[in-house]
Amino acid sequence: MSETTYTELRERAATLDAVDPLAPQRKLFALDDGVYLDGNSLGALPLHVPARVQDVLTRQWGELRIRSWGESGWWTAPERIGDRIAPLVGAAAGQIVVGDSTSVNVFKAVVAATRLASLAGEGRDEILVDATTFPTDGYIAASAARLTGHRIVPVAPADVPGVLGDRTAAVLLNQVDFRTGRLHDLPGLTAAVHAAGAIAVWDLCHSAGALPVGLDEHGVDLAVGCTYKYLNGGPGSPAYLYVAERHQAAFDSPLPGWNSHVDPFGMTPDYAPADGSVRGRVGTPDIVSMLTLEAALDVWDGVSVDTVRAKSLALTDFFLECVEAYVPQGRVVSVTPAAHAERGSQVALRCAEAEAVMRRLIERGVVGDLRRPDVLRFGFTPLYVGFADAERAARVLAEVLEETQQA
Ligand SMILES: Cc1ncc(COP(=O)(O)O)c(C=O)c1O
Repeated sequence: MSETTYTELRERAATLDAVDPLAPQRKLFALDDGVYLDGNSLGALPLHVPARVQDVLTRQWGELRIRSWGESGWWTAPERIGDRIAPLVGAAAGQIVVGDSTSVNVFKAVVAATRLASLAGEGRDEILVDATTFPTDGYIAASAARLTGHRIVPVAPADVPGVLGDRTAAVLLNQVDFRTGRLHDLPGLTAAVHAAGAIAVWDLCHSAGALPVGLDEHGVDLAVGCTYKYLNGGPGSPAYLYVAERHQAAFDSPLPGWNSHVDPFGMTPDYAPADGSVRGRVGTPDIVSMLTLEAALDVWDGVSVDTVRAKSLALTDFFLECVEAYVPQGRVVSVTPAAHAERGSQVALRCAEAEAVMRRLIERGVVGDLRRPDVLRFGFTPLYVGFADAERAARVLAEVLEETQQA
């Protein structure tokens, strides 16, 4: 790498950081002087959260005890926090409920999707599933298919339109691929699924909080997502389920627990579902995790997802440019699409020595992660990653590759 290139990229990074409208957000997070590029796995801790959780434990639980179900708003937290997430994924209020893991919500959504599809007529016995999916979605969809008498058809998202037909009941897709960072065409694929008379279920784990999703605008039927990545809800924070308002009355949950009953304290033997997003609830919510998430969502106050998206694309462009400039040709190959319309908020680089390289990067304070066997993943969280971070990560990567080759 030439000294001029290095100086030029460092200066560019400084200029871009100086005009970045999201730069002030960084000080809201607990970060050290390293470069944290793993927010697509576990988002960083917003600094104000521990005090809020302390209050949940010592005052709400410790002093108010059982009264907190009402007085501290514990009982209604799943819907209330769902409404906080709603604008981040382009949903009007009343359609998102928080709770359970993404895996459990995939189960609810896929089974409910087949039940919705069967209302329109018989003969729809196939569930199309993203062949490149995060594994849990595939495992759960397969079990849901066995339980409901459907057949799984694995299909690459881009090939979905050619495979859809009058046997398709539901289609389960990821908006952003967890391995490559590829962004799939949610509006186009949802429209194609609808044209075939089927139900579209989207997994938003790698897109919510990183880019505009537009659930209502694009007519998505059902969606699920986690909150511990770009939404910074904390380790194991609860996931969410979106049920479009037009489907709520017919949404038939395969896990009809007492929390989704119209009269949960009636304790009746017969199940009668509540109206609205509450219908997606199951059992007693994990209040401590849930209220940790609620506090963490404060960092989104006044932040526009469009601004986040613009910075995310600028950051990933700049990182790719720095990698190109610093890393010797052929040592890494980006598997993340170059086209903005096809890119999420991470860069995935294929690298022969990926395992050793990621270990050394982390030792030097550049934290990404590895998807075996050979993919280095770098997640760019626009709320707290800057352009100087992107430049430094690429520079350290080049140094580490140099050493790894020599070893
Ligand atoms: C795309 C996707 N779906 C589902 C999951 C699994 O979520 P959970 O462990 O909350 O069930 C993950 C986890 O990283 C994921 O990335």
